[in-house]
Amino acid sequence: MSSYSYTPLSSGFGIEVGGVDLSKPLADGEFQSIERAFYDHQVLALRAQDITPAQFVAFARRFGPPQPHVIDQFHHPEDSNILILSNVKKDGQPTGLQDAGSYFHTDYSYLAVPARMTTLYSRVVPKVGGDTLFANQQAAYDDLSAAMKQRIAPLVAIHHYGNRNDQDEQSRTVASVLTEEQKAKMPLITHRIARPHPVTGRTCLYAVSGSSFGIVGMPDDEARELLDELAAHSTQAKYQLRFKYGPGDIVVWDNAALLHSATLIDPNDARTLWRITVLETSADAVAPDVLAPTFATGM
Ligand SMILES: [Fe+2]
Repeated sequence: MSSYSYTPLSSGFGIEVGGVDLSKPLADGEFQSIERAFYDHQVLALRAQDITPAQFVAFARRFGPPQPHVIDQFHHPEDSNILILSNVKKDGQPTGLQDAGSYFHTDYSYLAVPARMTTLYSRVVPKVGGDTLFANQQAAYDDLSAAMKQRIAPLVAIHHYGNRNDQDEQSRTVASVLTEEQKAKMPLITHRIARPHPVTGRTCLYAVSGSSFGIVGMPDDEARELLDELAAHSTQAKYQLRFKYGPGDIVVWDNAALLHSATLIDPNDARTLWRITVLETSADAVAPDVLAPTFATGM
């Protein structure tokens, strides 16, 4: 048992775990408490951490294998597993990726083996805004009508890198623009729309906003209409959680159970975050320690 405290971030999902200091090694039991809270609550917040790039990567690696981002211009110089998100310029040059993911999406849903989790470490907090929005895709699936669940059960969505609602490369809500070489590495891939969570087994709507551009065996206009209907449903305010960052805050989220969106801020209001993304693994199907009975929130 750990001595951590647990405070819900909202009535539906998300939890803040108090008493964690990632600058010190985590005992196995301590990490298991954190991991269980992560799968039970989908969004995990650890406030006011003060850690090095190596400590951040070591923490992320406990969840699974980190995967450096395809946008390699802004990898952290000390560790390529960290992607720097920033609007700060140095000598007129950007120091990080700006305006990344300002639309509802799931990280790496354009890869055959997508992201299990993403973690952000807040380094420079803007004066105004910069929140991350999350939408609970497990609850959104549960609330679908029986007819809609039956309709989407066999359906497989076609994904590729990008934002299906904005492909204007000059827009601030387009997916971060790739070079031709980076685009060449991005094939079409498919994922079930009603996707069993690889660890918990709970069915979730999967990436119905963002990288989903079509449905296998369905005319494009019909597929687009269905995906838009599901996205409108699953991003309603009642499924959302707004996360506000303080200095040093770390948030960790479950990509298989959520959509998320960055929010745009004044480009002159300095903001820097470090990001690590961890992939799913074939071991996801068997994680009995994680699937043990849940702890009581607040204990
Ligand atoms: Fe993202």
